[in-house]
Amino acid sequence: MAYSEANVIAGGLAHIPIVVGVFGLIQALILKGTTNKPPANGTEQGAKKEQQESPSTQLGSQSSSSQKTIKKPAHPNVPVNTYKPKTPFIGTVTENYSLLKQGAIGRVNHITFDLSDGNPLLKYVEGQSIGIIPSGEDAKGKPHKIRLYSIASTRHGDNLKGNTVSLCVRQLQYEKDGETINGVCSTFLCDIKAGDKVKITGPVGKEMLLPDDEDSNIIMFATGTGIAPMRAYLRRMFEPTEREKNQWNYKGKSWLFMGAPKTENLLYDSDFETYKAKFPENLRYTKAISREQKNPTGGRMYIQDRVVEYADEIFSLIENPKTHIYLCGLKGMEPGIDEAMRQAAQSKGLDWSELRPQLKNLEINIIRWNERYQIVEKKLNEICCIELPLRFKEERFVGSSIQFRIPNISNAEAKSFINKNKQLGVELKWFGNDNPNGFTSNHKSWKYVKDQNLEKSDEILSGLFDLRLPLSFDLDDCETIANIITECVEQLSLKID
Ligand SMILES: Cc1cc2nc3c(=O)[nH]c(=O)nc-3n(C[C@H](O)[C@H](O)[C@H](O)COP(=O)(O)OP(=O)(O)OC[C@H]3O[C@@H](n4cnc5c(N)ncnc54)[C@H](O)[C@@H]3O)c2cc1C
Ligand SMILES: NC(=O)c1ccc[n+]([C@@H]2O[C@H](COP(=O)([O-])OP(=O)(O)OC[C@H]3O[C@@H](n4cnc5c(N)ncnc54)[C@H](OP(=O)(O)O)[C@@H]3O)[C@@H](O)[C@H]2O)c1
Repeated sequence: MAYSEANVIAGGLAHIPIVVGVFGLIQALILKGTTNKPPANGTEQGAKKEQQESPSTQLGSQSSSSQKTIKKPAHPNVPVNTYKPKTPFIGTVTENYSLLKQGAIGRVNHITFDLSDGNPLLKYVEGQSIGIIPSGEDAKGKPHKIRLYSIASTRHGDNLKGNTVSLCVRQLQYEKDGETINGVCSTFLCDIKAGDKVKITGPVGKEMLLPDDEDSNIIMFATGTGIAPMRAYLRRMFEPTEREKNQWNYKGKSWLFMGAPKTENLLYDSDFETYKAKFPENLRYTKAISREQKNPTGGRMYIQDRVVEYADEIFSLIENPKTHIYLCGLKGMEPGIDEAMRQAAQSKGLDWSELRPQLKNLEINIIRWNERYQIVEKKLNEICCIELPLRFKEERFVGSSIQFRIPNISNAEAKSFINKNKQLGVELKWFGNDNPNGFTSNHKSWKYVKDQNLEKSDEILSGLFDLRLPLSFDLDDCETIANIITECVEQLSLKID
């Protein structure tokens, strides 16, 4: 079952890739903040290397060529496909127990495998999946195919020894021609006993990894066993022994929306309640219990109804660039959540259908914008009479425009400078204009405040210019543009000097 990727929310609203498939992921990835802590999405040992290879450091080396392809950060230290279908790892079941309370619908089990003695060791990180090859043969006498399962444990495993992996599996059952059919692999998994041997492949997946940033906000939407990756995240964030082990001192805001048919079907509920009680400032936990609670129209309460209910707060969080959204579970919930987001956006005067596609490649586009920014910045920095904003290493910014200042330039010179640039094809905006020009305006045109005498501000604004850096400019264009500005400044600098 393939994943396809679409993106959801927007610009200031962060970039939110959604993986649409059997389940979806909405992940507001917002560029990783610089941190000295080990990254959550790599093995601890790989932390240093991963930081060195973060997108921001890659940028510097890419700025000289327009031909380089920008790729999504590759998470080089996240293990993938250590074990392949032809040579699977043989894991040993250590425990297999029901996660449901009496009276629940169906069968959902928590199953743990011992991974010790693997050569190489089967390592994984939170948000990945593993493959299981059930014993036996299919109707054609061929070995069964792999089924994927989201990993429900952290990389340290439930025993914190780093040598186990746990799954949360619902037995698939459906009716066909009056007969109850049991899913092959899910039944195999729910039936296995401690000590049984199981063929395991993987790990796979880099789409649902946690961000590095300890301050990030994590919104999670899960239905049923879609809780598996969220359980791994929540353990990493809030399980005291796990926190001690991982040294990832999570202090952001997280919010779990969980959909289940009945209270008895809520998975890992008491763990999450404990985390919420222990970390009330950091975790919210909202349940949609479809067959017990009613939505405002009297129908079953689904998590999308909760999205509408908390639209304002969810959108406020989404507007924070540190917010990441994950969605996992029934594919059917995705259109519902999409619709709920549309309503939520509308209530804020935003158009979801416009926001959603804009986010598709936002993470990559930010890298591309910054690459363009750095080319122009580097060139303009070489001109003595130009001042540019100081960019600190820790700062994350979107270089979709660049501002620079030419101190002491007179208004007449500024206008002539803009004209010269324009003749050579470079459109600059100027903050010294009394009247608004595009997106630049200064206080003299503001009707909602009384006239003010702001000499210092006027002096700064009169030398301040702005250049948009749309992605339709390639890197060579940026080089040319910077050269044109340099040429125009050089003509001007004689007068300034
Ligand atoms: C990335 C990923 C992660 C996953 N993680 C989890 C997880 O954490 N936990 C979990 O429980 N599951 C998870 N799944 C689902 C899991 O991979 C299996 O698909 C599921 O367990 C069913 O497999 P099975 O072998 O039991 O069913 P199968 O024997 O393969 O039967 C499934 C097939 O039965 C047929 N079928 C199903 N329902 C009906 C119906 N109502 N009427 C007629 N035919 C029907 C369809 O042809 C379907 O393809 C995940 C899937 C993916 C892709
Ligand atoms: N990584 C992955 O891809 C991954 C990981 C784990 C699980 N999964 C998949 O996720 C699914 C989980 O199902 P489950 O059987 O475990 O869940 P479940 O326990 O049956 O719970 C699903 C909940 O979602 C509700 N629901 C049904 N239709 C919905 C819709 N259109 N929108 C929102 N909510 C809806 C159900 O309500 P009602 O039944 O009351 O209508 C129920 O409350 C499985 O298909 C599993 O294969 C995928």
